[in-house]
Amino acid sequence: MSSRLVVLASGSGSNLQAVLDGCASGVIDASVVGVVTNRIDAYALVRADDAEIATELVSPLDGEERRDYDTRLAGAVASFEPDWVILAGWMRILTTAFIDHFPDRIVNLHPALPGELPGIRAIERAWSEALAGERSESGVMVHLVPDEGVDDGPVLASRSVPIDVSGTLEAFAASIHDVEHALLVETLAKLSATDHS
Ligand code: GAR
Repeated sequence: MSSRLVVLASGSGSNLQAVLDGCASGVIDASVVGVVTNRIDAYALVRADDAEIATELVSPLDGEERRDYDTRLAGAVASFEPDWVILAGWMRILTTAFIDHFPDRIVNLHPALPGELPGIRAIERAWSEALAGERSESGVMVHLVPDEGVDDGPVLASRSVPIDVSGTLEAFAASIHDVEHALLVETLAKLSATDHS
């Protein structure tokens, strides 16, 4: 049986698309069995619908405690019975109320090298630092999520991306996204292969 992936995405879902394509082509021996989002306007929902993948919207409620949201989110994700939970542009910090349901089974993608630029807008911050002469490269990492550390955890794969400050932020962002799509698919291909070894 191929591995069951649930993808959590808050936005455009270009990385979700890469995973869907990787599964469809057989590069990843897995199926995306569900896509969960926190935002009704996430384009990831359209991509999932187009691929005929089940979706679940878990919107935060007014005044809801983070841990209460995470408990509801865990229930929604668990209902898909995932082998792996993939955070692909998931833009909420997760607490142990979610993480502890899926020990060693949560994978996060972040557009920076290990130990660098955690949180939002990592690409823009890397670009600003490069313009200030403080860095000449950034990168992408895929890592496990063992605890509440933001964009931090055992690294599964990372790849650096040079920053050409004579170009544009848009071009740099595009090069980061190209590397993300490739690195996430490669990493999930390896993980799903070990599921079956
Ligand atoms: C990606 O660049 C991903 O690495 C980043 O959000 C973007 C989602 O793009 N995630 C983080 O910054 C996590 N801290 P996508 O919706 O097109 O896949």
